Amino acid sequence: MPYHQLAIAQFGEPSVLTLQAASTPSLAADQVLVKVAYAGVNPIDAKTRAGLGWAAQQNKDNLPWVPGYDIAGKIVEVGDNVKSLEVGERVAGFIGFPLQGGGYSEYVVVDAESLSKVPAQIELVQAAALPLAGQTAWQALEKAKVSASDRVLILAGAGGVGHIAVQLAIAKGAEVFASCSAANVEFVSGLGATAIDYHRGRLEQQIDPVDVLIDLMGGEVGCAALACVKTGGQVLTIPTNTAERVCQQAQQLGLQAEGMLVAPNVAQNDAMLKMLAQGKLQLHIAAQFPLAEGARAHQQIESGRTRGKIVLAMGVQ
Ligand SMILES: NC(=O)c1ccc[n+]([C@@H]2O[C@H](COP(=O)([O-])OP(=O)(O)OC[C@H]3O[C@@H](n4cnc5c(N)ncnc54)[C@H](OP(=O)(O)O)[C@@H]3O)[C@@H](O)[C@H]2O)c1
Repeated sequence: MPYHQLAIAQFGEPSVLTLQAASTPSLAADQVLVKVAYAGVNPIDAKTRAGLGWAAQQNKDNLPWVPGYDIAGKIVEVGDNVKSLEVGERVAGFIGFPLQGGGYSEYVVVDAESLSKVPAQIELVQAAALPLAGQTAWQALEKAKVSASDRVLILAGAGGVGHIAVQLAIAKGAEVFASCSAANVEFVSGLGATAIDYHRGRLEQQIDPVDVLIDLMGGEVGCAALACVKTGGQVLTIPTNTAERVCQQAQQLGLQAEGMLVAPNVAQNDAMLKMLAQGKLQLHIAAQFPLAEGARAHQQIESGRTRGKIVLAMGVQ
């Protein structure tokens, strides 16, 4: 069966994303074929497309390459050993991370065990926006051991990871502060955090010291925010390219600091899907783009201004 994927044949600007024809590979016994309805878009997709970072290095001799780690759709075929999933079931997952990707595609073959069933109350567009960003947020809070007694500052609280991290930290009972621009103060406050407008001056002049910093910005912004953390406090810096620098500076200030790379975890995805179904977590979808307009989605994610998440919609012109 012929279908479309959005691939890069060379690294470069968003325009290098082009539709290519593909035909369905055969299934191994533990795999399923998913008809993808939506694919999530994440900053790493754009960085890799531009030829930056580890996934690009590893794939440079493996082009054309299909980006995309977040998918949601319906099962259309199951391998011989697959007992947990059936044809017609709605599923979502964090697939092919970090080297394989493959989500920007109308169909994808994946290991059955990498997928979550999507509860009936949740739209597939929401399920596609959740996996990578949600699991990053979950694992960051877990690594930083955020608990009910903590004051937590989250940088970029309005972004894909940030808006989920804010809600998960509040669900743990923490007191949450989140930095954003004036345009996002209402959005971030609506999630339950105290929004801090970073254009209004240095963050440490706007809030009292915090126990934990979840740094979703890295670089200069991450380093500057270290001044907000109590001596002995915990720093988790998420952007990998500046993690060493932020950690070094944090340690010089007497803080505990580490970076992280998200690891796919189906149990965490299941737990967050359940929270979504129960109305205990909200995902904001800023925009949907047809697969063929993936370049526009990449321009949007590269703007650094995305509120919540953006997704690619399959089968839409
Ligand atoms: N290590 C890992 O495993 C891992 C996993 C996931 C993501 N990441 C990385 O983590 C970072 C965040 O990812 P994401 O998906 O959340 O990105 P994103 O959705 O693109 O973040 C966009 C948000 O950043 C905010 N922002 C921009 N400049 C800001 C500033 N100076 N201070 C505070 N907020 C600012 C914007 O809000 P305003 O418009 O209000 O400024 C916007 O809402 C990216 O670098 C990504 O590559 C790493």
